[in-house]
Amino acid sequence: MRCTVFGTGYLGATHAACMAELGHEVLGVDIDPGKVAKLSGGEVPFYEPGLAQVLERNIAAGRLHFTTSYPDAAAFADLHFLGVGTPQKKGEYGADLRHVHSVIDTLAPLLDRPAVIVGKSTVPVGTAAELGARARELAPAADDVEVAWNPEFLREGFAVEDTLRPDRLVLGIDPQRPGRAEELLRELYATLIDDDVPFLLTDLPTAELVKVSANAFLATKISFINAISEVCEATGADVTQLADALGYDARIGRRFLNAGLGFGGGCLPKDIRAFMARAGELGADQALTFLREVDSINMRRRTKMVELATRACGGSLLGANIAVLGAAFKPESDDVRDSPALNVAGMMQLHGAVVSVFDPKALDNSRRLFPTLNYATSVAEACDNADAVLVATEWDEFKALRPGDLAATVRSKVLIDGRNCLDPAEWAAAGWTYRGLGRS
Ligand code: UDX
Repeated sequence: MRCTVFGTGYLGATHAACMAELGHEVLGVDIDPGKVAKLSGGEVPFYEPGLAQVLERNIAAGRLHFTTSYPDAAAFADLHFLGVGTPQKKGEYGADLRHVHSVIDTLAPLLDRPAVIVGKSTVPVGTAAELGARARELAPAADDVEVAWNPEFLREGFAVEDTLRPDRLVLGIDPQRPGRAEELLRELYATLIDDDVPFLLTDLPTAELVKVSANAFLATKISFINAISEVCEATGADVTQLADALGYDARIGRRFLNAGLGFGGGCLPKDIRAFMARAGELGADQALTFLREVDSINMRRRTKMVELATRACGGSLLGANIAVLGAAFKPESDDVRDSPALNVAGMMQLHGAVVSVFDPKALDNSRRLFPTLNYATSVAEACDNADAVLVATEWDEFKALRPGDLAATVRSKVLIDGRNCLDPAEWAAAGWTYRGLGRS
């Protein structure tokens, strides 16, 4: 089959490469000529394990191309995916849909044959129906153009795996136009469906809501355990043991119960905020007020980390040397959007600390976003003369650290484990002051 994918960020580039991997002919489209040039040369413009290999293999096989040309894309296929970003609006909670609108407004006037546009981006409920109406208004093929929604659930760091072996496929269609989108996507995803991946057919608003509800649930699960970790701190209990014990209940499950600095990234924080904003517009704001608390619990963990560092430095961070290990919002990613690690580093700098940040993959992105922080090129350099070492992202390199690796480098043996990923007993036995979130 042939398809295009509009947008070549984390979502679009992965989808394009993976659809080619399934044997289809794919054209990735982006307005950024720099990205298109890199991708055409087999280079992934961000860090995503395994993606470069899939990209290279499929470019070499002649199945995968990239372009900035909308006319070429319209001529190339009758199935078009929409994978552009929907970031948070500046200064308010709602989602900024300008990229989605711009694709429809540019693509639709070029559609002179029947076409199916399938959205993958996370959008406020109701967007797909609006886009469908707009596309039909602008397209020469008019009523023969339809918009369907096939939300994407991929996690950064596991994007290829999640796309090629998803938990489920959800397709929302316009009930006025049954048949075509379903037929095309069943054919496109045939190998996955043959592998028993559940295929759920819904209407448009349900498909849009599945995605934001999933993210709201995941964010709530993380904030739940982080709220419990505040109680653990007040009582001396250990949230890690508690989560292990809770996780054995199959109804609860252990995943997403890791207490610590909480969630960040380009999805969970902005998705729960956009979800609240949309519910408000729909007159259902009361239904989601709990998400405000989910957001506040999450942000409180960041200030808690700063408090722990302040206390460890004798009550003031002024002039203290702080090593921050981790800048990415999570390991196996170079994404620093809404990163708890950089947020904490920035807050400590505002309190007068001399902060030195190290991350194995996210330094370039961090420098662009937070140019005023100091960046080190290794753990040892970040920890040089440190009054406290903070683990803010649980990269394997940091989980493998032993107390002896840092003892000679630091000024004070203080370790604050923002991801509860090190063994408190081991560090304490080596003479370190260990502080975790929700334990010790
Ligand atoms: C998320 C959803 O998982 C994915 O389905 C959706 O498509 C996009 O948003 P992603 O943002 O890549 O994916 O990261 P995820 O692995 O979900 O982690 C989100 C954040 O939660 C990270 O900052 C992570 O450190 C944090 N987290 C995760 C915790 O603090 N505790 C946990 O137990 C799990």
